[in-house]
Amino acid sequence: MSEILTASPAAPARLPLRHLLSAEDLDRSLIETLLGSACAMERLVTESGAGPLRGQILATLFYEPSTRTRLSFEAAMLRLGGQVVSVADALAGSSAAKGESLEDSIRVVGGYTDLIALRHPEVGAAARAARVSPVPIINAGDGAGQHPTQALLDLYTIQRELGRLDHLRVGLAGDLKHGRTVRSLCLLLSRFEGHDLIFIPAPGLQLGEDILAVLRQRGVSFETAADIYAAAPTLDVLYQTRVQRERLAGDAEGQAVPGGGRVDRGVMERLPRHAIVMHPLPRVDEIDPAVDGDPRAAYFRQAGNGLFVRMAVLYGLAARG
Ligand code: NCD
Repeated sequence: MSEILTASPAAPARLPLRHLLSAEDLDRSLIETLLGSACAMERLVTESGAGPLRGQILATLFYEPSTRTRLSFEAAMLRLGGQVVSVADALAGSSAAKGESLEDSIRVVGGYTDLIALRHPEVGAAARAARVSPVPIINAGDGAGQHPTQALLDLYTIQRELGRLDHLRVGLAGDLKHGRTVRSLCLLLSRFEGHDLIFIPAPGLQLGEDILAVLRQRGVSFETAADIYAAAPTLDVLYQTRVQRERLAGDAEGQAVPGGGRVDRGVMERLPRHAIVMHPLPRVDEIDPAVDGDPRAAYFRQAGNGLFVRMAVLYGLAARG
């Protein structure tokens, strides 16, 4: 496999972390440990090895919709031999509907379980939860804030597909303002060397100044391209995202914002042969399904990698047995 994954011992690893709240919790050495651990998890699934988290329970507490993130966390826990309790629609289907605070819900759920994966519409919700939680909190997306496990699986995918995590030209397209996956991915990429980031934002949806400041401070080179067509010929990775309409001010305003350009056959013709197209999914209309059959369309392989990376995160944070 890749340089990094063979250079580091690809074994399941415990992490020197209590919670995983932001991509900023992860420096290069921790990222490499986690990716090595995910590689070991991939082998564990293939070889259906023993369940190292037998007897432990994960709560998935999701106050926003999810398909991949929640189900891959749950499948990851089951693959590790643990068990899962789940609230898939916590805004309506938990005591939040009766007015219970997030903090109180976390105190209670933490009394029943060993780990909590939390998705919430408010930026900073995972950090708030971590302040009162008796068990590790994993941020499964907090509003337009962070989504660190998605960014880890994005890196895992890049590593697998392109064989390196340094010196890449990465085009980031779509809703860079509200897209938490892009925000976390930029932070993780900033831990590696020599990247050029090419932003291709949908109109008005440029990456936040907070992330740009970190990129500047870490010496990451970045520029903005006019459109996907212009950027495509030089890229190693084209990371497309949907406009986060649920995070735009009002319905009318949300509907009025166009996407940032569609990945279609024309874009694929311009993209280098070795490059890959990624997307955290769900896609709406920003990638033409006609390109799904192109070997460079990596987004479904990317989603599949979520299982191994989340196994590594769960194992890494679980209490020592
Ligand atoms: C993303 C999210 O929830 O931020 N989805 C995911 O976790 N794969 C992207 C999105 O919803 O657009």
